Amino acid sequence: MIRRQFLARALSAAAASLFARSAFAQHDAHSMHKMSGMDDMGDMDMSGMPSMSAHQAAKPATAVLAAPDALPAGAPLATLRTLANESREPGVFRATLIAQPVKRKLLPGKPSTTFWQYDEGNHPGSANARVTQTEGPVVGPLIDVREGDTVEIRFVNRLPQASTIHWHGLPVPPDQDGNPSTPVASGASHVYRFTLPPGSAGTYWYHPHPHMMSAEQVFRGLAGPIVVRSADDPLAGWPERHLFFSDLKLASDGVIPPNDMMDWMNGREGQFVLVNGARRPRIEIAKDERWRLWNGCSARYLRFSLGDERHFAQVGTDGGLLEQPRDGLTELLLAPGERAEVIVRAGANPSRAVLSADVYDRRKMAMSHGSLPPDPVRALADISFNPPPGASARELPATLRPVAPLGTAVAKKSVVFSEQMDMVAMHGPKASAGHGNTHGSTMPAGMTFMINGQVFDPSRITFTSRRDEVELWSIENRADMDHPFHLHGTQFQIVERGWGGAFTPEPYRAWRDTVNVRPDEIVRIATVQRMAGERMFHCHILEHEDLGMMGTLKVV
Ligand code: C2O
Ligand code: CU
Ligand code: CU
Repeated sequence: MIRRQFLARALSAAAASLFARSAFAQHDAHSMHKMSGMDDMGDMDMSGMPSMSAHQAAKPATAVLAAPDALPAGAPLATLRTLANESREPGVFRATLIAQPVKRKLLPGKPSTTFWQYDEGNHPGSANARVTQTEGPVVGPLIDVREGDTVEIRFVNRLPQASTIHWHGLPVPPDQDGNPSTPVASGASHVYRFTLPPGSAGTYWYHPHPHMMSAEQVFRGLAGPIVVRSADDPLAGWPERHLFFSDLKLASDGVIPPNDMMDWMNGREGQFVLVNGARRPRIEIAKDERWRLWNGCSARYLRFSLGDERHFAQVGTDGGLLEQPRDGLTELLLAPGERAEVIVRAGANPSRAVLSADVYDRRKMAMSHGSLPPDPVRALADISFNPPPGASARELPATLRPVAPLGTAVAKKSVVFSEQMDMVAMHGPKASAGHGNTHGSTMPAGMTFMINGQVFDPSRITFTSRRDEVELWSIENRADMDHPFHLHGTQFQIVERGWGGAFTPEPYRAWRDTVNVRPDEIVRIATVQRMAGERMFHCHILEHEDLGMMGTLKVV
């Protein structure tokens, strides 16, 4: 099999398909004029698509980045803000989330950085100000709810462009799920409403999902965690800690730069990985703890480790607890979008460890033939274990909860990921400036990310499924780099993974909504949709999703 397929395709074909899709973004183009009040947007390309000047097209696409230690490290891990429930009715969670530009002073002596962030509606000071100066983490507030709750969230869009809120992993009705087909215009608001069914306890998140603008909105800071709790959680009494990982690319002048060609091709990775909004925080542990981990990065894979000697247990995946703890782990890979619950032990004696992201080769591409080397090990947080004298390990229940098999599939679906790189177009003079979306970011020419040979078309239904019918989906990666598959509206079970014709049954049953698929790998999942309507499925490297590695599932 040919490892790298760089096709010197006709430039016109690639340009035509990109132009066709960029037309869908143009309905937002007028809103960019509202951006003029925002001072640090000044060096972005505001010219829009039709009249790109030669001067702008010639600007270097890659910003000079701030030093990797430019952000302070070593502060105690910030506690995530919790979204307050405005409702007094039992079983109803009601709140307002405002997406808005927010300024934060990050680099000494440099202008402040404008993030886009979710804030609580009643938060003092946020109600009227268009651009709010804040301290503290930019992670969206934690939505902490229970099975059975009816959740009603008013979304106020104070961004300069359309957006949506997608409830990643939750079984919400399709018309409440923030699909790209239901944008909330700049300046508008919308109420999302759904009820959390029994069995939905787990670790989820929310983020924007507008057509072709999800990557930008997330890398500017829009994402937040959700925890759904059950009444009979066997680990309810354990001290719980939340680590929401996000990625930040920051220019040396404090600006969050638009994507360059490499960001589009491999997915954006910044020089900073933030934990609850801060670089390399410090965590002190006195007792055994339950951790929830969110990989909220656009494209970065996190292969967690506490060092070779230090074991931890995984107790949950995206969709909640496993049947039994998986103890004795020394590493755990979370692809972009994935979550996990783990048990971290305080130990018997004081000690220290570094929570790190170990080397993982996701086969990132170079702009010429071949792959980039994987990133080196990266420290994410420093942990000190300070158990009281004589402390002993807390017993973990042998059984956490049943995870029933979904049953026999009555239908099949086949998803194939593929890529095409047009080297001529990618290196052409307009490679990264050919098509703008609403402002700043531009869609690149020459790279195509496909599902079943086609880029996403909002008017096309990729698959049709029947409600309540269990299906076996096979997801095959015929591309050259890893792509994390994500399906909306449900949790699925991995059945088996295939490699070179040999399939290995998944060793344990778990609920997931995101699964990594390596090049040449086939992952088979059992899945069922409970509600009629349209669902998205896509690669969760958000640049790939925006570039069209997405399909629509119609449930009838
Ligand atoms: Cu986390 Cu379709 O998204
Ligand atoms: Cu999702
Ligand atoms: Cu991808």
